[in-house]
Amino acid sequence: VSDLNVPEPTAQRFIQRFEAAFGRRQSMLLKLAGFRFGEVSAAGAMVSDSGGGEWIDFGSFGVHLLGHRHPRVVEAVATKLTQMGLSTKILGSDDLLACAQSLTRVCGSQASSVVFTNSGSEAIEVAIRLANIATGRDGFAALEGGYHGKTLGAAALTDSAYRAAVAKSALTVTRLPRDNPAEGVAMLRHAAPAALFIEPIQGEGGVRPIDEHYLRALRHACREAKVLFVADEIQTGLGRTGLVLESHRLGLDPDIVVLGKVLSGGLMPVAATLFDRSSVGERAADPILHSSTFAGGALAAAAARAVVDLIGEDGFLDQVNHLGAVAAERLERLDRRETGLVAVRQRGLMIGLEFETAALCGRAVIEAARRRLLVTFCLNEPKVMRVYPPAVISEADLLVGLALLNEAIGAAFQESRANQIPA
Ligand SMILES: Cc1ncc(COP(=O)(O)O)c(C=O)c1O
Repeated sequence: VSDLNVPEPTAQRFIQRFEAAFGRRQSMLLKLAGFRFGEVSAAGAMVSDSGGGEWIDFGSFGVHLLGHRHPRVVEAVATKLTQMGLSTKILGSDDLLACAQSLTRVCGSQASSVVFTNSGSEAIEVAIRLANIATGRDGFAALEGGYHGKTLGAAALTDSAYRAAVAKSALTVTRLPRDNPAEGVAMLRHAAPAALFIEPIQGEGGVRPIDEHYLRALRHACREAKVLFVADEIQTGLGRTGLVLESHRLGLDPDIVVLGKVLSGGLMPVAATLFDRSSVGERAADPILHSSTFAGGALAAAAARAVVDLIGEDGFLDQVNHLGAVAAERLERLDRRETGLVAVRQRGLMIGLEFETAALCGRAVIEAARRRLLVTFCLNEPKVMRVYPPAVISEADLLVGLALLNEAIGAAFQESRANQIPA
């Protein structure tokens, strides 16, 4: 795949060493797709490997909406690096304060307080703690197909094989149906949990929007039963769908909003849990309960603030929506009969392509990689490919990426049909 600037044995050794360190499954895609070199540098939508190969990145687990190493984020972090690293945890930080203020401003009225964490899963744990202490209840509710992370509490809310892998669920979770509003609302009322966790569009669950009437009915039922309504916008939030929050579009006004991924600017791991202090109470909001050694450092704050400023600027969300429309127009032209595609779902630059089978989707991911286009499949729904272009990509490069995707899907389909013909 890559240019052979690096001698073959070196490349072979890379895969072997990678497998030894991270296991066979981790190296499988590298092998199947013929990757022989690791990533070494990246800018915007492009990633370079140590063999001189160049890749278009429509993957990255939904982190790189601003592309790799956005100049404004790099500048903010580089400047801060000459001044401050991790926090003393005793003094207050101007950077963190400015970041929190920017974040709560763009996210809206309910979210007046913030806890910063190092990962989305940890931010979900903060929401779990807040709800548990605020309500005194220890049951939770979440939707079928939902993904909320892999720390024990978050894994209990997650609906997938990953949860089954954890011997005993850390929480009692009522699993509401994804597609049956009447039953879902009744189950929520009956369970009266501490909090309900939803993703307005399930990312790992197959880029699947939850019916908005259902979400509003759940929101209403939560208010009535004094259940905290938690919007996990780790994947949808901060511009990916063309809005600061999907919850805004739906008028959900969550009690707690959880953000991650894009907040990092692709540079510093940082996530955040936003909440209204008056609705959870001072005891639940006690910062000592949610503190963490590394969280809320100056570098993370500098990166996150630069991200929030960028997203809030005129034209940024318009650009997401414009590129989304360009992609939609191209994807509509795919001839479904020759692709094995059964559905295309999209909001802004959050795109999911559902295939007939997970095997076909996996094959298409590999075919895309063979063409140096990086995409992934959804963790909870492996027959859905996630296509998450960055907002900083040019229209021309977006079209190049989509053309490669088109080729890859066609090749995967042909290969799968050819394999079905008996020898
Ligand atoms: C909706 C959602 N919640 C939570 C998480 C967990 O975030 P992290 O991987 O940063 O722990 C993810 C990650 O994919 C996610 O998509």
